[in-house]
Order: sequence, then structure tokens, then C-alpha cells
Amino acid sequence: MSRTRILGCMPGTLPEGEPVPDDGRLPEAAARAFGASPFGVYVHVPFCRTRCGYCDFNTYTATELGGGASQAAYPDLTMGEIDLARRVLPETGDPVKTVFFGGGTPTLLAPEQIGKILKKIDDAFGLEPDAEVTIEANPETVDLAVLERLRDSGVTRVSFGMQSSARHVLAVLDRQHQPGRPEQCARWARKAGFEHVSLDLIYGTPGETDDDWRRSLDDALSAEPDHISAYALIVEDGTRLAVKVRRGEITAPDDDVLADRYQIADDMLSTAGLKWYEISNWARDADARCRHNMLYWTGGDWWGIGPGAHSHVGGVRWWNVRHPSAYAARLAEGHSPAHAREVLTADDQQLEEIMLGIRLRDGLPARALTATALDHAKRSMVPALIDPSALQAGRLVLTRQGRLLADAVTRDLT
Ligand SMILES: C[S@@+](CC[C@H](N)C(=O)[O-])C[C@H]1O[C@@H](n2cnc3c(N)ncnc32)[C@H](O)[C@@H]1O
Ligand code: SF4
Repeated sequence: MSRTRILGCMPGTLPEGEPVPDDGRLPEAAARAFGASPFGVYVHVPFCRTRCGYCDFNTYTATELGGGASQAAYPDLTMGEIDLARRVLPETGDPVKTVFFGGGTPTLLAPEQIGKILKKIDDAFGLEPDAEVTIEANPETVDLAVLERLRDSGVTRVSFGMQSSARHVLAVLDRQHQPGRPEQCARWARKAGFEHVSLDLIYGTPGETDDDWRRSLDDALSAEPDHISAYALIVEDGTRLAVKVRRGEITAPDDDVLADRYQIADDMLSTAGLKWYEISNWARDADARCRHNMLYWTGGDWWGIGPGAHSHVGGVRWWNVRHPSAYAARLAEGHSPAHAREVLTADDQQLEEIMLGIRLRDGLPARALTATALDHAKRSMVPALIDPSALQAGRLVLTRQGRLLADAVTRDLT
């Protein structure tokens, strides 16, 4: 099983790459290409009250920060990077179509601070009148009043980290919220006027049974979100969860169990009217899809603000220094906070198109494959792994069996 990588701020350590000039300027070809693809902004908020044992996102508790960077000063820092982005990107681009506040725990910032950052993005680039503005919210950090203030601040979509409704599963994951709280939050979000509400679930946690998973899906659906993400638990190196697995205290999720849980999810979510549109994501209709994530998966441009955030513009990808103190120091010196970058070759871009496109219900255009790979797909993957009727219409779309084996299919086609 595979999990969607969250591209705005990928977990794990930073790759190496070529240096970025201090003023952050782009190679000319990339600057010229800006404006040809839809543009979004990701804002990373690298703070959490406590760290969940499975998580290796770039986030820090107050103890981990050790007084080295201030959460209160963070919104002003992000504005410094928005100013830099405005200086670096040509004026030719369209207004921003999507903004995504991810974390970490963005809801540790006050809604008015989120509103200030949004206004800054609007002043710098213009925000489309119907822009999608998503915030990730931890259920224990919001209530009806906070959600109303977030809606008033211009946020249009909220995504709650539910993970499970089984108390013993939440305990293994070190989650802070009580069972039932995320569903309550989703109802509050509707009441506060959010049209788009999503819940994140994790399956395959040690100790979880098929029935626990069915109950979690039922409970999530009872709150009537228009979007659900369901990820197989990944045991990430360097996490407390990985240490427990290594010591034999708990057993890592088994691939067959994960495959069964995926099929349970797909059955229950489809029956309830949520259709898959990316391997780990289900939405009520096309309007309910996360437009920001679609931009990542379809070759769009985005600027990632914040420590460890990744950006992509016109075939150049770069990533910021990870620690909030190093990030603050770079901006204070008037320098780009980018750690390094890579210029994608045509081959890199084609590989990426295949890897991401094959995961989408809309599929991958057959012309993205070499003639040999397409021939191989036709001979040995249809009809078990690739949908024959979509292929006749010129697109490669995975069957459910294909979705379970997406990584192997990608390896075979590239
Ligand atoms: C970066 S987290 C931020 C959301 C928020 N802080 C929260 O946890 O509620 C986004 C989502 O990634 C998923 N996630 C994080 N680490 C994961 C892991 N090791 N395996 C599977 N899913 C993971 C969780 O479902 C989580 O809700
Ligand atoms: S609250 Fe979210 S971002 Fe923070 S440690 Fe837990 S999973 Fe990671």
C-alpha cells in the first residue's frame, strides 16, 4: 500500500540539491514559465502542542523549540517570505487559486493571524474571488466560536485530523483528542458556514481490528463531511512508533491487512456517496475535491511558505531550511530561506507526471508513456490493473486492484 505524499511540506529529511542565490531569484526559463499553470500558496505552521508518536512532519513542540523561535512572531515571519515571493515571481501570473495552511497545527495561530496572512497574500498576488482556502485543524484546538472566526477570516475549507474513533487506537497514535470530538468539530464547521469539510483517517494502526476501522468510517460518515482522506499508517524512521516496532513492543501493519482495510474504506465510502478521486482521497462530487492538492498532482505551480516548505515553479523545485530559528535568521538577513533546489529535466517531469497522474481517478493520458511502456500496460495490466474502457478513450485509470498495487504499476511503467 502507498500513502499520498503531502507535497507542500514533505515529511522526512531534506534532499540535497544545487544552491539558491541569496535573493531567491529563479532561473530565467522558470520565471518565464510562471503564469502558464495554476498557482497556489502553501503556508506551513511548524508548531504542535505535543508530538504524535507516528509523525515525522517538520513540526516542533515548545520544548523542542527550546525558546529558539517564537510562535507569536511567526505570522510576521511568513509575511517576510511573501514579500520575497512577490519580488522573485514575475507580475505576469494570474491571481492565487488556492491557499493551504498545513502543519504542524495551523489552528494554534489565532484566526485573525490566519486572516492577516491571507490579506498579505491577497495584497501581494491577488486572491481569486472563489479561491479555495483550506486549514488543517486539530480537533482539540477548535470549537464553534473559533471555526466561526476562521470562516470570517476568509478560510473556506477545513480538514480535521480524526485518524480513528477507537480510544485504544488513538492512544497508540498518541492523539490528544477524545473519540467523538472530530465529528462534533465537523458539525460545528457546517454550522459556522463551511461548505467544504474533510476528515483525515489512518488505518492499520497496531491493535486496530477490521471492526474498529468500520466503526471509524461509520462515525466519520455520520458527521457528513464532503471529503475524507484515508492513509495507511507509515512507520516513519526516527519516530517513537518506529522505536517501539524495532524493540518488538508492537507489530508494524501487515500489507495484507492494509489492503483489506483499503477495500473496506472504498466500499463504505462509495456506498455513502463519496467517490475516490485520488488513491487516498474520496469526495462527494468534483466541487468537493481538494483543489490545492489537485494542483500538486497535476503539475501546477506553488510557493511553500515556512520552514521546510517545498515550492515548485516552472519546473524548478526548492525547499526551505527546516528549523524555525534558521528560517527566521535567513529572512532577518534579507536572504531567501531556501536550503537548495533542483531544476527538473524533461525526463524528471515526465516521470513525475506518471507517478502522480496514475494515482488519480481522471487518470494519466496514454501519450505520457513511451510506446514500449504503453504496449506493456496493454498486454499485461488490462483488465486486472488498468481499466479497459478508459484506456480506449486514451487514459490510464487504475482498477481497485491496480490502486492496491499502484507503486508496482508505476515501477513497471517507468
Ligand atoms: C501533517 S498532518 C497535520 C494535521 C494535524 N496536525 C493533525 O494531525 O490533525 C496531516 C495528516 O497526515 C496524516 N499522517 C501524518 N503522519 C502519518 C503517518 N506516519 N502515516 C499515515 N498518515 C500520516 C494524518 O492523517 C494527518 O491528519
Ligand atoms: S498533531 Fe499532526 S502534525 Fe502535530 S505531531 Fe500530530 S500528526 Fe504531526
